[in-house]
Amino acid sequence: MKLLHLAPILYSLPLSSARTLLLNRRPRSDIPNTHGTMLLATDGGKNFDIDVTVGADNQPFKLLVDTGSSDTYIMRDSFTCINATSNLVIPEENCNYGPETYTPSSSYEEIPGETFGVQYGAGRASGVMAYETITIANITVRAKLAIADTSEPMGDGVNNGLLGLGYPSLTSAHPGKTVPNDTYFFNRAVYSPVFNTMYEQGLVEPYFSIALAHTTRNRTSTFGGYLGLGELPPVERKGEFTTVPVEIMNNIPANFTSNKRQRAYWAFTVKGVEYGTAAEAENDTLTTDDNPWQVFVDTGNDFSILPAAVVDPVNARFSPPAVWKEDLNIYVVDCDAQAPVFGVKIGDQTFYHAPEDLIYDMGHGICASALVASEKVGMVGNVVLNVLGVPFHKNVVGVFDFGKNEMRYAQV
Ligand SMILES: *[C@@H]1O[C@H](CO)[C@@H](O)[C@H](O)[C@H]1NC(C)=O
Ligand SMILES: *[C@@H]1O[C@H](CO)[C@@H](O)[C@H](O)[C@H]1NC(C)=O
Ligand SMILES: *[C@@H]1O[C@H](CO)[C@@H](O)[C@H](O)[C@H]1NC(C)=O
Ligand SMILES: *[C@@H]1O[C@H](CO)[C@@H](O)[C@H](O)[C@H]1NC(C)=O
Ligand SMILES: *[C@@H]1O[C@H](CO)[C@@H](O)[C@H](O)[C@H]1NC(C)=O
Ligand SMILES: *[C@@H]1O[C@H](CO)[C@@H](O)[C@H](O)[C@H]1NC(C)=O
Repeated sequence: MKLLHLAPILYSLPLSSARTLLLNRRPRSDIPNTHGTMLLATDGGKNFDIDVTVGADNQPFKLLVDTGSSDTYIMRDSFTCINATSNLVIPEENCNYGPETYTPSSSYEEIPGETFGVQYGAGRASGVMAYETITIANITVRAKLAIADTSEPMGDGVNNGLLGLGYPSLTSAHPGKTVPNDTYFFNRAVYSPVFNTMYEQGLVEPYFSIALAHTTRNRTSTFGGYLGLGELPPVERKGEFTTVPVEIMNNIPANFTSNKRQRAYWAFTVKGVEYGTAAEAENDTLTTDDNPWQVFVDTGNDFSILPAAVVDPVNARFSPPAVWKEDLNIYVVDCDAQAPVFGVKIGDQTFYHAPEDLIYDMGHGICASALVASEKVGMVGNVVLNVLGVPFHKNVVGVFDFGKNEMRYAQV
């Protein structure tokens, strides 16, 4: 779930929809990987898409891999694209999805008396709920899917929807056939998401793993790393795993999760951070900040959205410094700037970011720090949310364990 609303100038940039795959980190053939699959990084490593097939006729789609939401939705044919500002119908291609759309297959079974309607930071999508077969990473399951016939622009030029990997309490089916689109957070008919359904049917161990790849900064599509279902991705780890329990987000109101305090996001408490310029690192004078904060993990969020008390000093340590631009909603930085050292303390380890993962090319010659302040952009209503997004996950293997309600991380 993308929280950041970019300025319209940045949204208006054409997305590279190059479908050529530049492999900059080749898969290892010596580590067995039967339920793992390679991801495609789009738009210079901001989004990560997975190949799936849906229906009795195996229709191929690419879906955004999103640990920050729980529905799996696919755009159906002849869908309606709606401008989020004007609420007017705009041409389908303005929604920026890839060319494939879903046509109900012989295994499609619409669920009566329910509606699909989801609200992300990036926009809304709605339609119907249906049972359908879906194959992901060599596992086929019959599950509840959302078939969207309406969307605001949310595609990356390549994907046709989204694979939600969060907890069931965040699912966005709703009772009834007419559901006002400003009630999507508060009126849920909770169901078992695709991965959880695979587990319930005995098809997979109750965890998945994600290792995003470092990417080239230009805005093409490249190899994006791995999603593993019930197994680890075939990447080399530099250290051991550290383990943290999955927490209930304190800042999420109970009415967001059906008036129950329950797990929803992959959330935990970060113990602190360590940061400094490259020169400070060399001189052993990095700054340590041991103030803890709660965060949720979101591979569907291109930026990491962290407390201003962390982001402001870290962004000041780019050389030259990254500067907040209110009109663009980003910290603009010189594309050739030297990125700082930035480590996040989780469990008993500190996980460092590769410098190249801290700068995004936004097009038009504009580059941005990949870190933004939650007080500035992480607001959902009056709730402030911290998000560990894509940049962090290019540097770790993350294991998301529903069985133990814990997360495990190892540096790569
Ligand atoms: C798919 O999984 C089966 C075991 O469930 C395995 O034998 C097979 O090699 C896998 N195929 C691929 C392409 O990974
Ligand atoms: C959406 O509407 C706004 C306001 O009318 C307009 O400025 C913008 O260009 C529109 N965007 C698209 C993608 O149609
Ligand atoms: C949301 O609801 C409003 C009011 O009914 C409608 O004008 C708008 O098109 C809807 N937008 C989406 C994306 O469903
Ligand atoms: C993108 O960057 C890679 C690596 O630096 C380079 O090989 C490739 O040609 C670039 N592509 C474009 C379209 O500039
Ligand atoms: C949900 O709860 C929050 C915080 O308690 C409150 O501000 C908001 O009005 C509630 N929203 C609805 C739709 O009940
Ligand atoms: C590194 O430490 C030396 C000795 O204390 C000091 O003279 C120098 O200014 C420091 N450099 C930086 C970049 O902090």
